[in-house]
Amino acid sequence: MTIATDEETKPGVLENPVARILGIETSCDETAAAVVDNGREILSSEVASQVDLHAQFGGIFPEVASRQHILAIYPIVDQALKEAHLKLADLDGIAVTRGPGLPGSLVVGINMAKGLSIGSGLPLLGINHLEGHLYSAWLSDEGKKKKKIPNFPLLALIVSGGHTELVLMKDHLVYERLGGTLDDAAGEAFDKVARMLELGYPGGPAIQEASEGGNPAAFDFPRAWLDDSYDFSFSGLKTAVLRTIQQLQKEKKDLPIPDLAASFQNAIVDVLIRKTLLAAEEYKTKDIIIAGGVSANRALREVITAQKKYRVHIPPLSLCTDNAAMIAGAGCYRYHAGQRDGLEMDAAPTWSISEL
Ligand code: KG4
Ligand code: ZN
Repeated sequence: MTIATDEETKPGVLENPVARILGIETSCDETAAAVVDNGREILSSEVASQVDLHAQFGGIFPEVASRQHILAIYPIVDQALKEAHLKLADLDGIAVTRGPGLPGSLVVGINMAKGLSIGSGLPLLGINHLEGHLYSAWLSDEGKKKKKIPNFPLLALIVSGGHTELVLMKDHLVYERLGGTLDDAAGEAFDKVARMLELGYPGGPAIQEASEGGNPAAFDFPRAWLDDSYDFSFSGLKTAVLRTIQQLQKEKKDLPIPDLAASFQNAIVDVLIRKTLLAAEEYKTKDIIIAGGVSANRALREVITAQKKYRVHIPPLSLCTDNAAMIAGAGCYRYHAGQRDGLEMDAAPTWSISEL
């Protein structure tokens, strides 16, 4: 990867990246393509979800995911260009998720991007998936110009199926990772507890629905504060839910699903919000971004937007879960900063945001 070191990368000058980028995302179980203008405006965003396919296994089956990406990638890219009424020649570059993610899934998107880059002569840009989630906060959905643009420095919580990360973002493309999960990611905890409660996959939306009408204080599940560090741990919470279920079953009681779901959700939201606010306080940021699949959670959104001390940026629901507009959006900034990748670019399945 090459990054320009001249005038362009100095703080502030990246505020308005001039670029029209095609984004491709195949890191997990969505095959997605999108075109974004200048890091803000979505000209098209197509997502082919494999959720129904994986639901029968109760989770993501990597082999099935990569086969499905191969089937879906060409039509999805074609659709994204058609929807934007553009041809490759109208674009400035092709951004693709390089990692983190499932190796066999990542290479499908990367190879597609390389093929398009060779055929069109457009530059290739490998994008970090977590950086993509962050840049979803700059996107406006449905072509509307977004008014509320995040200000630096800002505090970002990325909560997805694979990651729970607290990041201080000092400027565009400048990150300091403050902490992350020591075991399960927040989304993974939702998925696992949903499986225990036989609520199906993906677990996040299922728990959210099951919580409706439940009492969030019915069960006092543990919160791992870890001495108020910026790391997270959800395995104790998960085990506590399992023990409670087993105890209720032993006593031959019906499982109070709404109460269990609401109490679990409450515990996880409590920890996510408190640590985010603590970090925002310590680093004196005024803006907070919450992004990634779990940021679609209604309870989490309600609690964080109820406080008035910080300006909170949460992407619209369609941009919380995996999509390619976020990859194209981050791609606009990377393109403007001078990043260009060669055809030797390989998948980076474990690429941490602290390496950026
Ligand atoms: O960002 P994402 O689409 O994929 C990854 O990068 O991992 O996140 C998927 C995760 C899943 O674990 C899913 O259960 C969770 O996001 N999720 C939710 C909700 N919608 C999706 N978790 C809680 N509440 C939701 N409404
Ligand atoms: Zn994701």
